[in-house]
Formats: sequence, structure tokens, C-alpha cells
Amino acid sequence: MEIKDSVAVVTGGASGIGEAVVKHLIRCGARVAVVDLEQKNIDRVITEIRQQGGDAIGVWADVTSESDTARFINETVSTFGKLNLAVTCAGIIRDGTLLSLDKETGHVSKKLSFEKWKAVIDIDLTGTFLTLRDAAEAMVNGGWEGLLVPISSVNKVGQIGQLNYSSAKAAIELMPKIIIGEFLMRGIHNIRCVGIAPGYTETSLLTGMNQEALKAILADVHIGRLIKPEEIADMIGYCMTNHALNATTIEITGGLCYSHGIAK
Ligand SMILES: NC(=O)c1ccc[n+]([C@@H]2O[C@H](COP(=O)([O-])OP(=O)(O)OC[C@H]3O[C@@H](n4cnc5c(N)ncnc54)[C@H](O)[C@@H]3O)[C@@H](O)[C@H]2O)c1
Repeated sequence: MEIKDSVAVVTGGASGIGEAVVKHLIRCGARVAVVDLEQKNIDRVITEIRQQGGDAIGVWADVTSESDTARFINETVSTFGKLNLAVTCAGIIRDGTLLSLDKETGHVSKKLSFEKWKAVIDIDLTGTFLTLRDAAEAMVNGGWEGLLVPISSVNKVGQIGQLNYSSAKAAIELMPKIIIGEFLMRGIHNIRCVGIAPGYTETSLLTGMNQEALKAILADVHIGRLIKPEEIADMIGYCMTNHALNATTIEITGGLCYSHGIAK
């Protein structure tokens, strides 16, 4: 599949990794629908793209809403005439431990709130499911060559303080294998699915994280720095052109290794 002349939808496309993916695809000659909740950022990205002669539309949508995902997929197809790529970058973190104890009494003083749990599961997991499902439906019915790219995370292995996020990202890691297994069973051969599990990447998402914990984690990254969103975007572009990549989730972490313990 060529990036040039392809049509992509990128959720969370108005910031961070999603924005880098959008801009990479545009540079390579794709047309892109930028889906996000932040209208100001959508406008900024679309203006930048159009100033440089790129072809993109902005669609305000909430990926947790079934009617919104159907709407942005339909709008992409009706604007550009087809759909070849769906990348699900919309995501949030809401960190906290399951329980916190009062130091004096030893009793539970705080629990991971249902709101924090539900917000992450709804946006990161359900939003990914709905986007992939509706994008795949359009690709099958249109008969277009397609690639689905769910965004997992290296924290799929289980990050302390991220029960909600790690649970969502572990489930997302499995999606390519299950989806492609089902496509094989159903005789659907025009769509591949490759997940991407980024390591710690230089975006605003990390500003919501415990900065001391982040500093400690960076000591375990072999290249000694955060991943750049453009490096993830470049990998997604490569996944489009290399058809042998399928039914798997690729880690891109800069070498996240726990040098004194388990190598993960
Ligand atoms: N930054 C990292 O270190 C890192 C590491 C691994 C995985 N990831 C994953 O990469 C993805 C992108 O993260 P990022 O770092 O670019 O974060 P980011 O905060 O810069 O971008 C996320 C975007 O998603 C949008 N969004 C949030 N909720 C939405 C909703 N309900 N509907 C539509 N859009 C919504 C936000 O408005 C924002 O523009 C996320 O899924 C994240 O979990 C990030």
C-alpha cells in the first residue's frame, strides 16, 4: 500500500503522536481526517496543513460515542471517496493506585475512583474498538485496501499506578491478532492490522504523569531520552508499505530495559 493518494483517519490527531502521524502522512501525499475533542487544536493543525498545500479535514468527535465514530468515518469517506488507514491515537491517563492507606490508622483512605477507571476504559479501550470496527466496516464495504493501527503502550505489561491504563493497553495489544484471525475466518483479505506500543514519548500526555517516576523510568531507556512522536509516525508509515507486518503489536521504546531486573 502506498501512502501517497491514500486516505487516513487519525483519532486524537490534533496533539502529540496523532498530530505527528497526521503531518507525516500529509508530507507523504495522503489525505487525512483529523479527529479530536479539542476544536482549537483541530483548527491549528488543519490551518498548518492547508498553508503547506496539504489536504485534510478536521472533525470534532468523541471516540466514546458510537454515533460519533460512525459520523467521522462516514464524513471521511464522503469527503475523500475512500478509506485506507485508521490510527487510534485518542487516549488519556488518569493515574492512581487501587488503594491508598492512612499512615496512622493503616485503614484505606482513598480508592481508585470509578470515574478514573471508566474515563480511561471508555476513551482508550472502547474508543479504539469503535473506531477500528467502523473503519473496518467502511473498508470492507468499499473494497479498499486498508490498515488498522490501534495504539497500545509499553505499559501494557502492567505499570504500577496505572491499573486502568495498563488494562486498556494490554487489551489493545491483543486486538491485531484477534481481528486478523477473524478476518481470515470470514474471508476478509483487504485489511491488515498492526498495533503500535510506544515507549515514553515526548507529548503533553506525560505532563500528567508523576514526574519523579518519569525521571526514574528514563534511566532504564537505553537511548537515554524520550521517543519523538515523529519516530512513531515514521513507523506507522512503514507499516503501510510493508505488507508482511500484520496481526501483531510492535514496540517502539528506544530500548526500555530494567537493567537490574526483568528485561521488558
Ligand atoms: N506519550 C506517551 O508516552 C505514550 C506512550 C505510549 C502510548 N501512548 C498512547 O499514544 C496515544 C496518543 O497519546 P499522546 O501522548 O499523543 O497524548 P496527547 O494528549 O498529546 O494526545 C491525545 C489526543 O487525544 C484526544 N482525545 C482525548 N480524548 C478523546 C476523545 N474522547 N475523543 C477524541 N479525542 C480525544 C486529546 O484531545 C488529544 O488531542 C494515546 O493512546 C496514548 O495512550 C502515549
